[in-house]
Amino acid sequence: QQKRKEHKLNIYETLEKACLYYRQQLSQSSVALHYLREKRGLSPEIINKFSLGYTPAGFNNLQQAFPDYPTNKLLLDAGLVVVNDNNKRYDRFRERVIFPIRNIKGEIIGFGGRIIAKGEPKYLNSPETELFNKSHELYGLYEAKKEIRDLNQVFVVEGYMDVIALNQYGINNVVATMGTAATEEHIKTMFRFCDNICYSFDGDNAGKKAAWRALERSIGLVTDIKSVNFLFLPEEHDPDSYIRENGTDAFKNLANNHSTGLITFLLNQLLEEVNIATDEGKARLISLVKPYTEQIKAIALQVILKKQLATMVDLDPSVVESILNNRSRFA
Ligand code: UTP
Ligand code: MN
Ligand code: MN
Ligand code: MN
Ligand code: MN
Repeated sequence: QQKRKEHKLNIYETLEKACLYYRQQLSQSSVALHYLREKRGLSPEIINKFSLGYTPAGFNNLQQAFPDYPTNKLLLDAGLVVVNDNNKRYDRFRERVIFPIRNIKGEIIGFGGRIIAKGEPKYLNSPETELFNKSHELYGLYEAKKEIRDLNQVFVVEGYMDVIALNQYGINNVVATMGTAATEEHIKTMFRFCDNICYSFDGDNAGKKAAWRALERSIGLVTDIKSVNFLFLPEEHDPDSYIRENGTDAFKNLANNHSTGLITFLLNQLLEEVNIATDEGKARLISLVKPYTEQIKAIALQVILKKQLATMVDLDPSVVESILNNRSRFA
């Protein structure tokens, strides 16, 4: 146990050292600085706040920071170095802008890297390690947690650059799921800090799908106090591009006045799967809503959902209630 703890401490130290190296490389790379400053519009302050770095082209750059590179096992455990079929070691991150990922205590647990030349994949992340588990870490939480508490709200976005751009525009209560869907663990973590989660994913189809999955995973966790809502951006935008093009006030206006509540999103989405003009469509809508009503623990929300459903299917709320409760007298 003691040994395991020590081993983890050594991995943290290794990641911290790599981070220093990446930051130093950024300060020396006009290409990477140009990318972040000019192409992405980031200020030196924001680059520092998120400890952004860079790693140049080349397969063994980390050797400069780790003279024992060929034998250092921690580099493998930290996910920084990969071994190929011929037992040769090479750097996982090459010619990428580096985004250090911190845990809630501020310790570095992994990295994301964005390509700046041509190539695939656009983003590469640390693998799962003893320290890094993507499904429960939220990028930016360490930097955002005070603001999340103070404002009692968190914006959840998809990407590193969304977190960073919103910060640059003065919106600091932001975290990212790093491309994966929000998990139950993510949601519980965020609800420890605030009462409202606002999902602000990309406007494209992937973003809409992510929003629906977020709804499915949130619905059992919301209460009459803990709420979620959804900010849908224009098709061609993500939070980064949106705020860059339209500014802070436009983003806040969207968030405050044009976001969609859980019940509205749920009903609108399910409505798309039926022809509500027909009797069959109405019946189908009720059966589609049923599994969701059962999951909602928030009493008031449940009542509101049933009332809105009743209006849509043009039935008495008490009748809808009976159908949902499976009382065959009405069903
Ligand atoms: P996006 O493709 O929306 O990236 O993925 P982005 O942040 O808008 O990229 P820019 O603006 O072109 O730089 C959102 C997030 O999904 C994860 C990353 O965390 C990314 O920030 N992702 C994306 C990956 O892990 N791998 C990928 O290949 C792409
Ligand atoms: Mn953790
Ligand atoms: Mn996307
Ligand atoms: Mn995006
Ligand atoms: Mn983007």
